[in-house]
Amino acid sequence: MPATHRKLLAANWKMHLSLQEAQELTSEVVQTYQTEIAAPLPLVLCVPFPYLSHVLHLTKGEPFVAVGAQNVHHKAEGAYTGEVSAQMLRSVGTQYAVVGHSERRQYFGETPQQIADKIALLLEHRIRPIFCLGETLEEREAGQTIAVLTTQLEGSLAGFTAEQMAQIVVAYEPVWAIGTGRTASPEQAQEVHAALRAQLTAHFGDDVAQATPILYGGSLKADNAAGLFAQPDIDGGLVGGASLHTRSFIIIAKALATYAH
Ligand code: PGA
Repeated sequence: MPATHRKLLAANWKMHLSLQEAQELTSEVVQTYQTEIAAPLPLVLCVPFPYLSHVLHLTKGEPFVAVGAQNVHHKAEGAYTGEVSAQMLRSVGTQYAVVGHSERRQYFGETPQQIADKIALLLEHRIRPIFCLGETLEEREAGQTIAVLTTQLEGSLAGFTAEQMAQIVVAYEPVWAIGTGRTASPEQAQEVHAALRAQLTAHFGDDVAQATPILYGGSLKADNAAGLFAQPDIDGGLVGGASLHTRSFIIIAKALATYAH
């Protein structure tokens, strides 16, 4: 299992890039990281399944660049054509996996129980889950943000022990901010992150809550990263669009590296 650091930056490439582009981007990120980022800041590249082995190969031996999947199936194995298991991910060396992304909840009907099952399988195979949660614009405007997030958090995490929770990364991604160019303000995000950390304290104790990375995601860019990362409970980011270009991703990493030690 990769070591736990509270500061962490993850790239979510989603369904973008050819293999060649993915390899070029990986090499550039590794090289630029080595020359421009002095702090011990873990970067996690969450890449499409077919590129896992290639990206793992290109990042081999880099102590602070890890590789993640963007999903995993919620059953251990069996007749599930087209699906990928936690064991398969582990067998190629995958270190992290995103679970419960709002795009998967929305377009593929993922349920809190399925997400919990995915997390359990990942932990069993020593892969760190990056658990995403977030409210829609409608829910925010109705004043339901914290209630919705509480339901999502409890619905998928309540069954785990403190020891298991210590291996899980949380990513708050307001649905209205993902891919829209509309980011949560640092104050809006901080308010939610603090509330999530309080819930982690209530369920798993203060030590685990204080050590858990709570990432922000949703139109995180080079020009808004510094303001968000300055907040005490924002421990890093899950970056979609801006992770597809070395420059913007590295600028975001540099903003976070200020706080990594
Ligand atoms: P975005 O995506 O940065 O393109 O908004 C973030 C995510 O969905 O993880």
